[in-house]
Amino acid sequence: MTSTLASPDLRRRLEGIQLPDPLGFGTLMAPVMAIAHYRDGAWEDVRLDALDPLSLAPHTQALHYGQAIFEGMKAYRNLGTDLPGTALLFRPHEHARRFNRSATRLGMPELDEDVYVATLERLVSTLDALVPERQGQSLYLRPTMFGATAHLSVVPSTEYCFVVLATPSDAFFTAPISAWIERRFSRAGPGGTGNVKAAGNYAASFAAAAPLAKLGFQQLLWLDAVHHTHIEEFTAMNVFVRRGDTILTPPLSDTILAGITRDSLLRLAGSLGLSMVEKPVDVAELVDAIASGEDVEVFGCGTGAVVAPVELIGDETGLRLPLPPFPVATRLRRHMLDLQHGVLPAPAGWQRPVPTR
Ligand code: PLP
Ligand code: COI
Repeated sequence: MTSTLASPDLRRRLEGIQLPDPLGFGTLMAPVMAIAHYRDGAWEDVRLDALDPLSLAPHTQALHYGQAIFEGMKAYRNLGTDLPGTALLFRPHEHARRFNRSATRLGMPELDEDVYVATLERLVSTLDALVPERQGQSLYLRPTMFGATAHLSVVPSTEYCFVVLATPSDAFFTAPISAWIERRFSRAGPGGTGNVKAAGNYAASFAAAAPLAKLGFQQLLWLDAVHHTHIEEFTAMNVFVRRGDTILTPPLSDTILAGITRDSLLRLAGSLGLSMVEKPVDVAELVDAIASGEDVEVFGCGTGAVVAPVELIGDETGLRLPLPPFPVATRLRRHMLDLQHGVLPAPAGWQRPVPTR
């Protein structure tokens, strides 16, 4: 990969950036990004460049037909005693593989997995000063690909742009959240794009989410699109439900994103003495269980959010159900962050240390 960081302009842009407190999420963008174009059937080398506006024709394919995908990843400051002075990428090859699954689903070219990971390493290493030191904070990374051909034909682009952006951030949620059972709109239908990170999946949730944000609800809890009887996932997280000693999460399908945090929790459960089962969760049963005072927890998980307990569930019928305390979600959040920050040893292959100093 080539870098233009020798350029005094890029070096100057990186000097003297102060991290605000709090960091927020996605507010302060790193002034350097990675970028590569795909033309004539091949990817050019990825280079580092200034985060300046891209020049796009108004008839760029992605703007009209939504041929755009992304990933969400994080580089955590290593707070453990092994490999000090590194930042830690969490399961980057899993993200690379999902990026390629998203690309394939939207008729886009794949990117070599090693190039994807090397790009992230290079960017994180360059942006060392922007990797926060505090537990729970991270340099959030946003690999994105979009169809760049300037043409209105309703066919896949022949040119693509791959960019990786970075933003020092707090976790998506720093406090328990309120979730809204979405009974009217649907997120993903069978055979659609719900199981990949297509940009349009998120746009499709905005009309439902916007009025609820005013009521203090941060996430939609989506139901299956066909019967509206089973919970699937949140706007930007997978969902887990604890009922007594059993923790359930809906089985993966073509309408649910295969979250890497979800997979990590399922793999860790045994070593934490927790029983986690992939099983459909009926929304009416869940509401009854909470309303009748059963010992229930609901939490989301995802790269941005890590693990986010739900403290209130609502819906359009006027339902407002506070949930009891969330000891398991709290424990899982702490455990994940300890792993991601290198405080606890992670399973083999999960951590990718990036030398930064
Ligand atoms: N589901 C949706 C719709 C998401 O946007 C995300 C976040 O990326 C997740 C689940 C969780 O996935 P991951 O844990 O890989 O970040
Ligand atoms: C992430 O958790 O990284 C995501 O990509 C979700 C996002 C929409 C904030």
